[in-house]
Amino acid sequence: MRMFVLMLVAAAMTACAGGNATKEVVVTPITEGEEIALVQPDLEAGTTINMALKNRCSSREYSVEPLSLEELSGVMWAAAGVNREDGHLTAPSALGLYPIKTYAFLEGGVYLYDATAHKLVRVAEGDHRALSARQEFANNAPLNIAYIADMSVYEGHNMPVEAVKSLCGMDAAGYAENVNLYAAGNGLKAITRGSAQSEEVLKLLNLCPERYALILAQTVGK
Ligand SMILES: Cc1cc2nc3c(=O)[nH]c(=O)nc-3n(C[C@H](O)[C@H](O)[C@H](O)COP(=O)(O)O)c2cc1C
Repeated sequence: MRMFVLMLVAAAMTACAGGNATKEVVVTPITEGEEIALVQPDLEAGTTINMALKNRCSSREYSVEPLSLEELSGVMWAAAGVNREDGHLTAPSALGLYPIKTYAFLEGGVYLYDATAHKLVRVAEGDHRALSARQEFANNAPLNIAYIADMSVYEGHNMPVEAVKSLCGMDAAGYAENVNLYAAGNGLKAITRGSAQSEEVLKLLNLCPERYALILAQTVGK
């Protein structure tokens, strides 16, 4: 992997038993392209889950400062990363059907998260961040996420479409809350959003509305 690593020994002093230790924080700029290979999450980073719960809140002000590759990787992994050898994800899913696809809207394109390969695959070029929202703060935030359900995974389960959409909503809420807690625990801001330009997003991504539905969106940044 092309590694252009800015080693920032950010005086991130972590208190440990024998005194203070300096934790090296690796900050790699994101290089957009057809694919973005993500890095593995640092399982030792961040606050405790209890502090993340204490600090979680919805933010509606973001700077244009980009996320680092490490931060983007951590956010995607928190949303829907593989966390076990059996391929299951950080977020639960009703009936284990995983209808939710996670799309990242970055400045240079829209990317589909491939959890198995832990990479982002570009599905549309250009800056479409404003489409993923109906609120101005999202337009220049470094990362917006759209959780889009592929409802075809419910075929054969004999469920009314309203029940399918309801289960998809519950799944997506789990993904989004994972990200909210990751953000709160790792010095980032986030907000879950129900507001998005859903029809336009589906059109942009060539997803037919009979099968796909934009369930939830989210903004992440600094
Ligand atoms: C499903 C869902 C959809 C939401 N949609 C929006 C939204 O479109 N725009 C917005 O500004 N906030 C949205 N929020 C954030 C709520 O307004 C926020 O969670 C609530 O005001 C409580 O504040 P807190 O998250 O800081 O505790 C949404 C939250 C949830 C759970």
